[in-house]
Amino acid sequence: MSHLTIEGGKPLYGTYPVSGAKNSVLPILAACLAVDGTCVLHNSPALSDVDAAADILKAEGAVVTRAGQDLTVDASAAAPAELREDLAHKMRSSVVFLGAMLARFHKAVLAFPGGCELGPRPIDLHLAGLRRLGADITEGYGLLNCRAPGGLTGADIALSFPSVGATENLMIAASLAKGVTTIRGAAREPEILELAAFLNAAGGVISGAGEDVITIHGVQRLHGCEAVIGPDRIETATMLSAVAAAGGRVLLKGAQPDRLSVVLPYFTAMGVRLTDTPQGLLAERTGDLHAPPFCRTMPYPGFPTDAMPPLMAAATVAKGTALFEENIFACRYKQVPELCRMGADIQCSGRLCVVKGVTRLTGCPVTATDLRGGGALCVAALCADGTTVISDIHHIERGYEYFDDKLRGLGALVRKD
Ligand code: EPZ
Repeated sequence: MSHLTIEGGKPLYGTYPVSGAKNSVLPILAACLAVDGTCVLHNSPALSDVDAAADILKAEGAVVTRAGQDLTVDASAAAPAELREDLAHKMRSSVVFLGAMLARFHKAVLAFPGGCELGPRPIDLHLAGLRRLGADITEGYGLLNCRAPGGLTGADIALSFPSVGATENLMIAASLAKGVTTIRGAAREPEILELAAFLNAAGGVISGAGEDVITIHGVQRLHGCEAVIGPDRIETATMLSAVAAAGGRVLLKGAQPDRLSVVLPYFTAMGVRLTDTPQGLLAERTGDLHAPPFCRTMPYPGFPTDAMPPLMAAATVAKGTALFEENIFACRYKQVPELCRMGADIQCSGRLCVVKGVTRLTGCPVTATDLRGGGALCVAALCADGTTVISDIHHIERGYEYFDDKLRGLGALVRKD
């Protein structure tokens, strides 16, 4: 298994190119399956989750090729196939292909996606919405057998929770349904707007994305198109945490501050100076690091749950005490024991975590527990005294493209082996 070895204690200086967003490209790849044509996705990050999505598309008969940061998907000859169990488990968000399969093929068999490191990942909102669109879905033997013999029919859908994945699945499915669909209580994340823009570029008729009511007028067919994947706001937040913790001056090239309007004030309060420039977001911390304000994770536009673990890592070496409340996932604190091994002072109880800043962390062997927990360990290692060896870095490689290369570009002493 690969490891990341990081010599901490060096401030970061230079330019860090922010990659295309994992959580934008994944639903758009799923939507490509509903397109009777060829799509070109520019600025697509080279990540293991993206490779897994490409494998699912190929298993369904699509042709997927990569040229640098451009992914080309030709799903014109795609046909339904039973999704292999291994593929479904390879990527949590495989369920987001279900809407496209039902819309295009009127049937689908999907392995029930298991939980993940963040705890149970129910899909009841996905299934209830698809049933509202007329799908007949039976569950058994670890499989979801889905049929819509006459195709899907538009409907009014109300989500009891603004689930990102359920909103995306239903937008894709409704794009080829007969009639009009409204999704009330929809997720409002920037990735929802990117998916709507992609579907509209393919001939879809979607309005209201980014608001809590999205309206989709079904069309007969979606045609090939091009899209540019936007910058990864969670990678940006992770690197802001790294500058906060390690100090220095870094230009986050391509970062879009407007996607982080709730997050940026936390870093300003901690002592990170932020400057929006035409090239991206300039972050600098040379003075003291102060504890962040109370951090409660919420659906967008609230504080994103994925940005919390790296922020927590920075808070471990800040002056003062920080309070975190996780309201999205059951197991978001799995990185806490690993941070404590490095000398952090963290107490957790249920959804709450209290972090008392310490003067320094010390490097040691640690294990990545999940994607953003792994990001947090990298942030901690960059500011710790001595050497940190992070194992199970496959978690990190799911969502941080060329991470070791890009950190070395900032002068960090990082080795992958
Ligand atoms: C997306 O996951 C992201 N993944 C997650 O990023 C992100 O943390 C999450 O949205 C919240 O912003 C991708 O976009 C690929 P949800 P998703 O459906 O769609 C409950 C990362 O690190 N729920 O909004 O799975 C669920 O249990 C990943 O990049 C139901 O109860 O998130 C959770 O508590 C991690 N029933 C809450 O909603 C359902 O049918 C949020 O889930 C669906 C979800």
